[in-house]
Amino acid sequence: MKRYTKYAGLLFSLIAVFALVGCGARGGGAQGGGEEGTYTIKFSHVVTPETPKGAAAEKFKEVVEEKSGGKVKVEIYPNSQLYGDEDELQALQSGAVQMLAPAGAKFGTIAPQLQVLDLPFIANSTEELEEVVSKDSKVGQAIYNNEDLAAKKIKVLGLWDLGLKQFSANKPIRKPEDLQGLKMRIQSGSDVLKDQTETWGASTTPMAFGEVFNALQQGVIDGLENAYANLYAQKMNTVQKYMTESNHGYIGYVFVVNNDFFESLPPDLQQAVTEAADEATVYNREIAFQKDQEAKKKIEEAGTTEIIVLNEQERQVFKDAVVPEVWDRHADVVGQDLVDELKSREGI
Ligand code: SIN
Repeated sequence: MKRYTKYAGLLFSLIAVFALVGCGARGGGAQGGGEEGTYTIKFSHVVTPETPKGAAAEKFKEVVEEKSGGKVKVEIYPNSQLYGDEDELQALQSGAVQMLAPAGAKFGTIAPQLQVLDLPFIANSTEELEEVVSKDSKVGQAIYNNEDLAAKKIKVLGLWDLGLKQFSANKPIRKPEDLQGLKMRIQSGSDVLKDQTETWGASTTPMAFGEVFNALQQGVIDGLENAYANLYAQKMNTVQKYMTESNHGYIGYVFVVNNDFFESLPPDLQQAVTEAADEATVYNREIAFQKDQEAKKKIEEAGTTEIIVLNEQERQVFKDAVVPEVWDRHADVVGQDLVDELKSREGI
């Protein structure tokens, strides 16, 4: 009897898991609770709705709900309120959520090639960046067609921008030596970010985005690298006296859907999702850098933080310390062909 109860329990759990993964969030059934033929997408992310990712997620929702005639509904969960960096990819793969747009670094353990986005100085300006990470570029193709993601049944719908990264700390950073002795938060999952930051002389603390503000406030870490849009949205300027505009790297998002869920949609709704994703991607690219500059202005206006803008020579010192050595050290993971492409753009 005891054994029977054990097997019955196991069978029940398996049925529950298959129901969750196989049906996604289809309506009209036990999961969705909505009308037959309607589908609910849970879209989880870790930033505020006003940021370039948050706004693009809202755009996706608006367009797909309109294109599908209300048959696809999107529930957006911002600010790590449903899942954080540490568990959102697991939630996607189990079908607990259907969509995410994590930064490339966050895929480090399941699709290590995406760390190509973390390589320092992959572009020298936002204009150049748009070429390097466009859908048709070598980098873009490596992400859209990533085999590790496909093997895990994760479908790439877009590549979104946050922006170029700056340093933030409680002391002025003008040269790599200024990072020595500082405990810098890096995004979890990226060996490239660890290598880059330690090469400049700082120690690194990988940490989920949702924990960074408290860690800064409590002195667990001294600083971080990020784009102005995120630094302002999380009020990090209120606990950081200095930011250094170094434009030393990029944060890009890989907008993904659980492929089992996607394929469970009828063809017309798959098309609605794909078209809405394309529109949201175009929208993100239109607004990201503008939002980033608005955030910089707001940080300046708040008067809490001095922004140090590196001149070309000062920026070059940071660059010379890591390019091409850090690129070369990770070429086996991110792809020698992609590193060669970046080098040819730089004339090296
Ligand atoms: C995000 O913008 O999604 C978070 C980036 C980070 O972890 O720094």
